[in-house]
Amino acid sequence: MTNASTPYTARYPSLAGRTVFISGGASGIGESLVRAFHAQGAKVGFCDLDKAAGDALATQLQGEHPALFVACDVTDTAALAAAIDAVRQRFGPIAALLNNAANDRRHEMADVSSDDFDRLVAVNFKHQSSPRRRWPTTCARWAAARSSTSARSAG
Ligand SMILES: NC(=O)c1ccc[n+]([C@@H]2O[C@H](COP(=O)([O-])OP(=O)(O)OC[C@H]3O[C@@H](n4cnc5c(N)ncnc54)[C@H](O)[C@@H]3O)[C@@H](O)[C@H]2O)c1
Repeated sequence: MTNASTPYTARYPSLAGRTVFISGGASGIGESLVRAFHAQGAKVGFCDLDKAAGDALATQLQGEHPALFVACDVTDTAALAAAIDAVRQRFGPIAALLNNAANDRRHEMADVSSDDFDRLVAVNFKHQSSPRRRWPTTCARWAAARSSTSARSAG
């Protein structure tokens, strides 16, 4: 919920109690998303490969629905599936997926090795297909959220 200790003054009642999953939520834009949804009373689950930052953020976000952090590298699709499942187990069906984790560094194609290419595909694209296969009800939102950043990240 909004209160004097957060910078979020707008109130969106439809988010209260809704389950949200955010990838790459421990820092940067993802952290802001985690904080903002939590401030609206949403049940926020988030993953990140930075366990220390994720644990520290989750510790701060208590209240009616304490945030749940699961350490996970989205390039490990089995671990990502387990992280999403853990959030569903804790909070119930996921209403919104924010596929935020990515590698947005720009490259000249001539400088991209085969291994670099595989790593970029893994962090920016590959994991789209895993949640879709396992959880068809969330696939459309996941793919839609992913597409905007993936296109830039692969450039
Ligand atoms: N910063 C910008 O100007 C900008 C502009 C357009 C789009 N974006 C997109 O917004 C998103 C977030 O941007 P940002 O600037 O906050 O990025 P950031 O690099 O500051 O933060 C990304 C977060 O994702 C985590 N992360 C990275 N790889 C991961 C992985 N494999 N598995 C799990 N977690 C991982 C990082 O630990 C970090 O917490 C990215 O998708 C980026 O492409 C950013």
